[in-house]
Amino acid sequence: MTIQTFDHTRTLARELAARVLARIERQPALVLGLPTGRTPLPFYEALREQTRVRGTRWADVRTFNLDEFVGLPPDHPGRYRAYMERELFQAVGVSAERAGFLDGNAPDLEAECRRYERAIADAGGIDVMVLGIGANGHIGFNEPGDGLMAFTHRAQLQPATRLANASLFGGDVEQVPHEALSMGMTTILRARAIVLMATGEEKADAVARMLGGPVTTKLPASFLQLHPEVTVLLDPAASPR
Ligand code: GLP
Repeated sequence: MTIQTFDHTRTLARELAARVLARIERQPALVLGLPTGRTPLPFYEALREQTRVRGTRWADVRTFNLDEFVGLPPDHPGRYRAYMERELFQAVGVSAERAGFLDGNAPDLEAECRRYERAIADAGGIDVMVLGIGANGHIGFNEPGDGLMAFTHRAQLQPATRLANASLFGGDVEQVPHEALSMGMTTILRARAIVLMATGEEKADAVARMLGGPVTTKLPASFLQLHPEVTVLLDPAASPR
């Protein structure tokens, strides 16, 4: 794994945005895997700004979001689809047909997970998968436990993860769904390149274990040690001491 530490989250976000846009300019039909959460917000802001300045064309880019809540109404602002529209897609011009999402309202959720795996394969696989990390070491909604799911699946959210998502629900953890659909570990590890961003002190322990601990289902992000092309971008607070 390549580890890069930046003096400020904004510097980190700008650098990653510049790398992603340069890649899109070289490879206009890039397939991107994208995360939600608080960590990527400065990255999406930098993508919006730099896209405007550079005039980068997103028309042929395809995206697949990592995960989505189960059971939220289509117009609910807490849906990750709504987050992505707000934070990135409207500003840079990623149309609904080119933005892959799991549908947490699909009548058959297992079939929906299979559809997503096929859609990613039909797009030629993910070129660059951008990830955040939960304070408990989760990636996507692959939570720590006795086992991990390989492919896109239905996931039960742990209390800490629901709490971490409460800001999307007006700060009310009771409103956060108990279930989500998520890419699995193999779905993520099949990406050709992976970039993980971690900022803030509350991520330092998970980052240290991800980088230096054993590969274990108790810390799903540790599986990234098995991938040949992972870059970890950190701010000083999240860096191992
Ligand atoms: C959420 C998302 C993850 C994200 C993580 C960290 O539960 N499903 O994809 O990486 O939590 O979120 P944050 O960046 O807000 O700390």
